[in-house]
Amino acid sequence: MSRDIVLKAEDIHKSYGSLKVLKGVSFEIKKGETKVIAGPSGAGKSTLLRCLNLLTKPDKGRVWLEDIELTNPSVNINKIRQKIGFVFQEFNLFHHLTALDNVMIGLRKVKKLPKEEALRRAKEALLTVHITEDLWHKYPAQLSGGQKQRVAIARALAMDPVIILYDEPTSALDPQLVGEVLQVMKELARSGVTGLVVTHEIGFALEVADEMMFMYDGRILEKGPPKEVVFNPKHEITRKFFEQVGRLYGERR
Ligand SMILES: Nc1ncnc2c1ncn2[C@@H]1O[C@H](COP(=O)(O)OP(=O)(O)OP(=O)(O)O)[C@@H](O)[C@H]1O
Ligand SMILES: [Mg+2]
Repeated sequence: MSRDIVLKAEDIHKSYGSLKVLKGVSFEIKKGETKVIAGPSGAGKSTLLRCLNLLTKPDKGRVWLEDIELTNPSVNINKIRQKIGFVFQEFNLFHHLTALDNVMIGLRKVKKLPKEEALRRAKEALLTVHITEDLWHKYPAQLSGGQKQRVAIARALAMDPVIILYDEPTSALDPQLVGEVLQVMKELARSGVTGLVVTHEIGFALEVADEMMFMYDGRILEKGPPKEVVFNPKHEITRKFFEQVGRLYGERR
């Protein structure tokens, strides 16, 4: 595998019973790139992300992270998973832990860092996502949705991942809180953090994504520069989709 490819998926298939959710998905991401996946509900976007870190086991196909094949049964997946950040729509923070402890817990329990080192890295990650010291000791219930999602991003970032996967990170947020999360994601993308983002935020894709992949019915129907795929797509299905998304979301930047 070429040295600058950090994640590669090859012919991923996944079914639930008779429902074929993924029908052969292949792509790769180079170090420092940001790629966006968009597509209608049920297209298989979340399933694909989950297959990439084997939270869901693909029926067929292979996944590599750097030069390690995750789908090789002899690989210790728990060890590799540490290298893949995952940001969920619903934040998935620990409710009984403060913002700081939410970021620290993985550094302590998974990476086994000494307390001082974990603390230093957690604080640094929180500051990177603009969570200032006054919020460090608050519990998730005391934070806004935008703040919670930025803590979740800090938690992923602090682990020093090879790539961060985001699954609709702003779609559970009140509209006025979406911007602060997108801003942080843009800053990370520009600073060279590799990212794969399922989102319908077209403005984000146009501004920072290297590629837009449009998923439909278990396949990547088309992909290319975001501007091309959004404004000049090859398929009528893609055109209709982005026309509708444009009406619903606008081109928020
Ligand atoms: N664990 C599961 N068991 C059974 N069916 C599932 C499971 N997970 C997903 N599915 C089905 O697979 C299809 C794709 O789901 P998926 O969540 O990947 O879509 P999506 O593109 O992320 O949609 P959305 O935009 O609504 O999040 C859907 O029909 C869904 O009901
Ligand atoms: Mg989904």
